[in-house]
Amino acid sequence: MKILIIGSTGTIGKSIYESLQEHHQVYGAHRNSPSYPIDITNQESIRQLFEKLPKLDAVINAAGTASWKSLYDLKEEDYYLGIKSKLMGQVNLVHIAKDYMNDHGSITLTTGILAEHYEPNAVALSLVNGAIHSFVNAASKELNRGIRLNTVAPGAISGDFPKDKKFAGYFPVEIEDVVKIYEYSLNTTNSGQILKIY
Ligand SMILES: NC(=O)c1ccc[n+]([C@@H]2O[C@H](COP(=O)([O-])OP(=O)(O)OC[C@H]3O[C@@H](n4cnc5c(N)ncnc54)[C@H](OP(=O)(O)O)[C@@H]3O)[C@@H](O)[C@H]2O)c1
Repeated sequence: MKILIIGSTGTIGKSIYESLQEHHQVYGAHRNSPSYPIDITNQESIRQLFEKLPKLDAVINAAGTASWKSLYDLKEEDYYLGIKSKLMGQVNLVHIAKDYMNDHGSITLTTGILAEHYEPNAVALSLVNGAIHSFVNAASKELNRGIRLNTVAPGAISGDFPKDKKFAGYFPVEIEDVVKIYEYSLNTTNSGQILKIY
């Protein structure tokens, strides 16, 4: 398969990249990439990368951020960071990617445990993760040519967060197990799934 991985130098994206490159033609993209630069907050940048690549069988996004602040510290503009990056970055990616993919292609987004479990200072991330879950549920039904849309919702990754300390009520998960869920998303015929691992 020809697979684009966005966020390919990050905690999650790098491990997905390393695992998939053994058996697939993989393109690793991120803002500072010399070969495949992309900024998911900018539609033109997304489009430019797809124009440069061959038709893809799969797109995996593991990029996108939001503000870490308590409810009392969050200002409207703080919310817009996550809305512009993790939320609309991934929504715009779906809109653009669908036109550059082979029939039955697979798009996998990344959300997280905060969509449904509370962690202090993570209100803005909870907001965008929940919105993406609703988007995936609805948008997956309207994608044509058999293109599938799923999201992986990981808990905190062990290493990024202390292994023995609960995050949002759950212990961190091992990156190897998280990568397996992204691989499941690639290979399943299911669409519209929220693939939780925590
Ligand atoms: N780490 C965790 O414990 C964890 C748990 C659950 C969910 N998540 C979610 O998973 C996603 C990835 O997290 P991570 O910890 O792997 O991130 P990370 O280690 O900070 O890496 C982010 C990756 O994305 C790229 N990137 C950042 N902003 C980008 C943009 N606007 N456009 C394109 N690429 C961009 C970065 O490279 P450049 O700087 O070169 O662009 C890097 O390759 C996030 O949405 C996060 O909320 C993470």
